[in-house]
Amino acid sequence: MGYDAQFRVWRGDADGGALEDYSIPVNEGEVVLDIIHRLQATQTPDLAVRWNCKAGKCGSCSAEINGQPRLMCMTRMSTFTEDEVVTVTPLRAFPVIRDLVTDVSFNYEKAREIPSFTPPPGLGPGEYRMQQIDVERSQEFRKCIECFLCQNTCHVIRDHDDNKPAFSGPRFFIRVAELEMHPLDTADRRDAAQEDFGLGLCNITKCCTEVCPEGIKITDNAIIPMKERVVDRRYDPIVWLGNKLRRR
Ligand code: SF4
Ligand code: F3S
Ligand code: FES
Repeated sequence: MGYDAQFRVWRGDADGGALEDYSIPVNEGEVVLDIIHRLQATQTPDLAVRWNCKAGKCGSCSAEINGQPRLMCMTRMSTFTEDEVVTVTPLRAFPVIRDLVTDVSFNYEKAREIPSFTPPPGLGPGEYRMQQIDVERSQEFRKCIECFLCQNTCHVIRDHDDNKPAFSGPRFFIRVAELEMHPLDTADRRDAAQEDFGLGLCNITKCCTEVCPEGIKITDNAIIPMKERVVDRRYDPIVWLGNKLRRR
């Protein structure tokens, strides 16, 4: 059965904005993105929103719904009671371009800083051979849809823009972990993880894991193992001695 929902949507741009109220019909089975599209079609043709697949796979429609970082296309209207006001605001950790669209280029800059996959010398494309058992650990991280909800949620940058230069964020900790656990990768990213990507700033609050729509266990399966690998390297007596001698 349909009903009219009360929506409160943030409208504005980089210079500022405000929440605006709308009353809008909802049909059975709809998701928040359907309602945003209906708003565009019937009341606010200039409402800016980024989306693509409407299937939870492109990672474009990230926003904050009643303060919770979520994908709009995967948030069913049945989550809310009919008389509940549904507030939709843009991701808070990134600069607003307009309405619900933010500038997420921070993430692309961080992605470029991570040393890429480095296969053993002499092994050409098409010659990679791996056993399924050897890729099982890192395969989970390949599910990432780059929605950046984890990035938006992590307190290290959510309220502290000044930490951004020193912190890559959870999405990129799983990328580093994925490469570190890759059976054919030969690069060592452990020092970079600590010193350049800010792994040490993560204090394992696990908020990133809670919001991941792909259910990736970011903290337990990527961040904590990476922290352990960094510690192992630092306190390995041979590595320690080598570092000491190199610094002389
Ligand atoms: Fe989104 Fe999860 Fe990937 Fe983070 S790890 S960007 S929350 S899919
Ligand atoms: Fe941030 Fe996740 Fe660590 S929320 S503090 S990266 S566990
Ligand atoms: Fe693609 Fe929502 S529109 S994840």
